[in-house]
Amino acid sequence: MTEIPRGTLEEQTFYEQVGGEQTFRRLVHLFYRGVAEDPLLRPMYPEEDLGPAEERLALFLMQYWGGPRTYSDGRGHPRLRMRHAPFTVDRAAHDAWLRHMRTAVDELGLSPEHERTLWNYLTYAAASMVNSEG
Ligand code: HEM
Repeated sequence: MTEIPRGTLEEQTFYEQVGGEQTFRRLVHLFYRGVAEDPLLRPMYPEEDLGPAEERLALFLMQYWGGPRTYSDGRGHPRLRMRHAPFTVDRAAHDAWLRHMRTAVDELGLSPEHERTLWNYLTYAAASMVNSEG
């Protein structure tokens, strides 16, 4: 039987494969640049400073994709649908959220396969966060 040497692609998490913390921080930073200018989304964010929200989303995505578990160390179990319950996530909010994500993902310049994996997840997750009709 042939052994697969350590450190080959098979053993790397998606987090590592796409460049680790730096990549996720960049993604989320680009995303919040769009949110900051968005007339529908910006007023939904309770804090004046978007920095802490940016930090939470970055840490969550890093953890989700196999990076450090810093998000849960600070915030506990994600329970994202529950955490979004105070906000009206309708079709328009969903579309705006994904539009800014799309722009951010495009700027990362990932391989087509990594990009597809990430995008499939983001679209699925965004759809599952919708909690209001309209
Ligand atoms: C579909 C449209 C969405 C809208 C309009 C939306 C909006 C919001 C808002 C207003 C907050 C509160 C900001 C804060 O204080 O952190 C928030 C938090 C958060 N969102 Fe979303 N969100 C959406 C989708 C998603 C998706 C798809 C994910 C994950 C892939 C996500 C992950 C998070 C995380 C991790 C937090 C911080 C939770 C915490 O620890 O408190 N959101 N979102």
